[in-house]
Amino acid sequence: MAGRTAIGLDIGTSVVRAVELSYGRGGLTLERFGQVVLPDGAVTDGEVTDSEPVAQCIKQLWSATGFSHKRVVLGVANQRVIVRQLDLPWMEQDELRAGLPFQVQDLLPMPTEQAVMDFYPMEEITQDGRRTLRGLLVAASKDAVLSNVTCAASAGLKVTSVDLTSFAVLRALGKQSGLDIETEALIDIGARVTNVVVHSSGVPRFVRILLMGGQDITDAVAQETGSTLMEAEALKQQYSVRRAGRGEFDSVQRAVVTTVSDFVDEIRGSLDYFAASNPGIRVQRILVSGGGSRLEGLLDRLSDATRMPVVPGDPLVSLRMGRTGLDQQQLEFVRPLATVPVGLALGAL
Ligand SMILES: Nc1ncnc2c1ncn2[C@@H]1O[C@H](COP(=O)(O)OP(=O)(O)OP(=O)(O)O)[C@@H](O)[C@H]1O
Ligand SMILES: [Mg+2]
Repeated sequence: MAGRTAIGLDIGTSVVRAVELSYGRGGLTLERFGQVVLPDGAVTDGEVTDSEPVAQCIKQLWSATGFSHKRVVLGVANQRVIVRQLDLPWMEQDELRAGLPFQVQDLLPMPTEQAVMDFYPMEEITQDGRRTLRGLLVAASKDAVLSNVTCAASAGLKVTSVDLTSFAVLRALGKQSGLDIETEALIDIGARVTNVVVHSSGVPRFVRILLMGGQDITDAVAQETGSTLMEAEALKQQYSVRRAGRGEFDSVQRAVVTTVSDFVDEIRGSLDYFAASNPGIRVQRILVSGGGSRLEGLLDRLSDATRMPVVPGDPLVSLRMGRTGLDQQQLEFVRPLATVPVGLALGAL
């Protein structure tokens, strides 16, 4: 394993997963990928709510995957994280950092001393001789970040930094080449959390964290059919095959179609909001990833609703493959799931 390495740790709702990347003369290499399924309810809406079982799963992940060390970059995405566009009077970077709490105290739903925050400049605007910095403000309540950090620490890991999951998505997918694509939306669909990021040539313009995902569809199937969540998950994953065999609009399909339609409306609403507040900037395509993006037909529905091309994002496209121990079939399985941990690790390299 040559060069520097970094590990991204993604504590999701259904699975905890981690990726180790190395950076050397040959470029970036995927050294390790591992994941362990979490018990139901241990992570709620992006936050660790039952630390002990999650810490056990993280320990298991480390002993099974053979990461070379225990220093990690941790992702955070939950409803207590605020990301919004903000214009500030122009100032030097360190002055900006120091002055940020005063600048934003009226914008936050919590006292600034209970928040961690950062500002990501996007562009400089000069109007009537006044210089303004337009960027994204990211602020999170300390508790919301701490529960995940404490959990990782109790599993014996050292958290070297915490990063917004949406920015990890941007790092992992934002460089996927596309002819003449300048502005695109990246959407990582999890079990309960969906990250939406609009960027122009790698610069984030809009971020939204939606508390919805594949689990909402499973819940709807369970309710419609009276089956357990495990049965409903299997029914959901096979529903298009069943539809092809029976040709009737059965209850599983009804539940899937209704929930997907709400989901697609929500995404379209976010993109409409972006379009309305950024006239002159056109989103040209959508890249999707995450386990929730595997639902049969979802990409087509999204494409119909947004009238945009929707294609699978590939976080592994620019990585060389190290000795991960994964065969081709396993890599195909991992591909849509690796976006967040790859992006977190990239941030540290
Ligand atoms: N073949 C499939 N068809 C439909 N849905 C699938 C398929 N495979 C996985 N999923 C869905 O993907 C979701 C899990 O995705 P993922 O592993 O990205 O979520 P997570 O990271 O654990 O959760 P979150 O990011 O929301 O906290 C589940 O809801 C699962 O039902
Ligand atoms: Mg996830």
